Order: sequence, then structure tokens, then C-alpha cells
Amino acid sequence: MTHSLLLLPGDGIGPEVMAETRRVLAWFTQNRNLAFAVEEDLVGGIAYETHGTPAPDAMMAKALAADAVLFGAVGGPRWDKLPFRDKPEQGLLRLRKDLGLFANLRPALCFEALKDASTLKPEIVAGLDILIVRELTGGVYFGEPRGIETLADGSRRGVDTQVYTSGEIRRIARVAFELARLRGRRVASAEKSNVMHTSVLWREEVQALHDAEFPDVQLTHILADNCAMQLVRNLRQFDVIVTDNLFGDLLSDEAAQLTGSIGMLPSASLGARDAAGRQPALYEPIHGSAPDIAGQGLANPIAGLLSFAMCLRYSFGRAEDAALLERAVERVLAEGYRTADIAQPGMTKLGTAAMTSAILKALDKLAA
Ligand code: IPM
Ligand code: MG
Repeated sequence: MTHSLLLLPGDGIGPEVMAETRRVLAWFTQNRNLAFAVEEDLVGGIAYETHGTPAPDAMMAKALAADAVLFGAVGGPRWDKLPFRDKPEQGLLRLRKDLGLFANLRPALCFEALKDASTLKPEIVAGLDILIVRELTGGVYFGEPRGIETLADGSRRGVDTQVYTSGEIRRIARVAFELARLRGRRVASAEKSNVMHTSVLWREEVQALHDAEFPDVQLTHILADNCAMQLVRNLRQFDVIVTDNLFGDLLSDEAAQLTGSIGMLPSASLGARDAAGRQPALYEPIHGSAPDIAGQGLANPIAGLLSFAMCLRYSFGRAEDAALLERAVERVLAEGYRTADIAQPGMTKLGTAAMTSAILKALDKLAA
């Protein structure tokens, strides 16, 4: 069976880390009886410069047809002044919206070898294993009306709209409860029901779905601001956190830093499975385009590689291969290899390609 993959390297460090994912992909093709049909296309700022739009229709068509999309990163200071519809980020937002990728899975896992690399004390982050389930196609990112208008007196008014339906809330809560059943059976639902109507609805719908279908999972409700605080105070209380698009954006960056570096964290964005069993999926490192280090061979390829591991697990049903790749990463870290973002005294500092080479070597050993 051949899996079709669309690679979208994008901007900044996106192309560098995607090149490393290609090497690991080739390893799995050669060694693990996997066959991929790989296509590549432009997205984000580079697509804007080449085609005049960050999300060209032809790219979108390929993404819709592929079994899975591997995404690099988009954005950079060069495009900061563009109007919203031309900004590189629109490439990513259109992919999320048009593919219906409503469920964003962001695991924050602290590798034992990196517990000293976090800005938090090692005893706080050791054993950290949290899954943030972020709603990705609704809320204030997409709600209408939105825009900036000039008022009669010449002053300006900006509007974004936070909006959720009960259906949108229940389908993301269902994903969180189902995943919790495969882990620690605990879900914390984060919202601001003390101030926001959407959050009151969120809280009621999550509770109702829990009571009807998931009574075996422990559910707690937590205010999103308190959640942000608890993440740096007592993070072991969390197993799965389910939250909306905006809060999820913030909380997942915070959780990422707990693990030592945002350069370590993968993500999966999944849509609804159709009648034939096909599920739209996009996998991306959450670090973004990091324009300050782009093109220097310094970027950490691990988040991209772990995103490919998630792809193997969720899109291709290859949990064993995913675990193999994750173990190879763990081993290389345990052996003391570090990219600049996770550098520690006494460890061996490697660039992007050398880190991948070390991981490939570890894969060879593990598979032997
Ligand atoms: C993320 C990013 C995106 C978001 C940007 C690039 C649009 O921050 O995936 O977390 O805000 O969702
Ligand atoms: Mg973000």
C-alpha cells in the first residue's frame, strides 16, 4: 500500500527541517516496508512571492487529495506588512479550514535527558506528559464579523468574533475524551466561563457529553488563566487538556517551553473520518519559522521528525514505526547530542543535518 504525502516546507527554517524529514522518510522506505508517493509544493510567504497568494488553489487541491500533509512553517518579517489575506499564516489557516482539521493534538512530553534543559526546575518537569487538544477551525480565529473599520469621527474600531456552536464543542471534546481513555483517563477543560458566553456553552456541552458517554473519564473544568498558572506550578495534575482555538494557541506554547524547547514539539491536526475511513490530516512542528536562525543549519529537526512519527501513528496505523522513531530520538538525546536550542554544558552540539544523521544511526542500531 502506497501512502500519498504532500510536503509543504514553507518559510524560514521550514525547508531545512523538511529536508531532514525527507531523509528519515527515506530510511523508513528502505528499512520498514513502507511506500510513500511524495509531492512537494509551496505555501506561505514563498507561495505568495511565487504565485501571489499564500495558499494557491493548486496546492490546496493536492492537500485535499493526499493521505497526509507534512507542514514545515510559515511567516517572517518580510511579509509582516501585507494585508491579512496575503499573510503567510493564511496558508496554514486555509489548510486547517478547508481540510476541516478541527482537532489539534499537541503532546508536551519531557524527555528524561532534557529535564535539565527546561527553564523550570527538573523536579517539576521530570516525567511531564501532557496532551493538549486544541480546537482548530472555530472560535475567534474564524468568527464573523471581523475587521477594522473607520468610524464617523475618524477613529478606528477593530472587531474579532469569538463564536462556538454546541456541535463544534462536542466534536472536539469527544476527541479529548477518547484520547484520554488511551492515557491517564483525565481531562481538564479550560475556558473563561466567568466572563465569556462561548465559555459557558463550552463548559456545559463538555460536561453533558462527559455525563452521557464518558463517565469513566475524570473531567475537571479549569479557567484558562488559572490553567496557564497551574502549568508552571503543578503540571502533573494534567493528563489531557481540551480547550478552544485561542486559549489552545497560548497554552500549547507555554507547555512547549516546559519541555525544554519549542524545537522539540510535534503536532497533528485531524479532521473527521469519512464513510470510507479517510481522515484528513496535517502534521507540523509547532516551533514556527524562526526567521532569526533560518538558513544557518542550526534548527532543531526533532519537532519535525516527531511530527512524522505522529503521521505514522495516526494516518498510517504504524504505531510500532512511530515508537521506533521516538526511541531513536530519545537515545540520541540520552547519548548527549544537542542542537543549539537545547544545548547544555558538556554535551555534543550538532547542527540540523548532523542531528538527523545521529538519529538515523540510532534507527539503524535499534532496527538491527
Ligand atoms: C500555531 C501558530 C499559528 C496559530 C499561526 C502561525 C497562525 O501560532 O500553530 O500555534 O496561531 O495557530
Ligand atoms: Mg501558536
